[in-house]
Amino acid sequence: MTQPPEATFSAVLRAASATDHAAAESAGYMGDLMGGKLPIAAFAALTARLHPVYAALEEAAEAMREHPVAGPFVHDELARTAALEEDLAFLYGTDWADRLGDSPASRAYVERIRAVAFDTPEGFIAHHYTRYLGDLSGGLIIGRTLERVYDLADGRGVAFYRFADIPKPKPFKDAYRALIDEAPLDAEGRALVVAEVREAYRLNSALFAELGAMSWNEAA
Ligand code: HEM
Repeated sequence: MTQPPEATFSAVLRAASATDHAAAESAGYMGDLMGGKLPIAAFAALTARLHPVYAALEEAAEAMREHPVAGPFVHDELARTAALEEDLAFLYGTDWADRLGDSPASRAYVERIRAVAFDTPEGFIAHHYTRYLGDLSGGLIIGRTLERVYDLADGRGVAFYRFADIPKPKPFKDAYRALIDEAPLDAEGRALVVAEVREAYRLNSALFAELGAMSWNEAA
């Protein structure tokens, strides 16, 4: 009897986190935002929450750059912190750093990245994959939608969603999935990546839940 071909690890990872992706994707906040039902302050608040997350993730990338397992995932063309800062300057003004409120959900996400992505390759790969492969997938559509909904001329405020140094996301994502497939991880390591990707999705959903619970009517 012929055996079915063994699924690649990237396919396993995608399948194992599909329900978590569906939950994140269906957050009421995202639907309202993309549907143009929220003021631009609600969009700005998402950018404000993502900034510390990417700052931590990209600090972890520096720590992992030479790591034999995690290092190959580090790509400078993915870096988003500078783009987020450009967007925050547009959305909040140049004094944006003094104007951002507290976000327990963003803090929890940063704490998790600090706990697992600086010294375990599995933790780093999981958080790296969940954000950047998402940004290069649905994120591109989200960016284009927000640009239209909020009438953002010349992409101002949505630099985060534009990967100027990755003109062709498809081959980049294919190569990224090949890295996942070829990463020297044993069964235990792979299980750790899957579990942490699911945790990363939960942290993203919590971020959306926090934003969804806010009242935007009186916000500037
Ligand atoms: C409204 C919200 C969202 C939409 C519309 C959306 C849409 C999509 C779409 C269409 C794809 C498939 C693209 C492809 O096959 O190449 C995708 C993949 C992906 N998304 Fe999302 N997404 C959303 C939210 C999120 C969130 C919050 C995260 C996590 C931070 C995320 C992470 C991912 C990842 C990691 C992939 C790649 C899966 C894989 O192929 O391994 N997405 N998304």
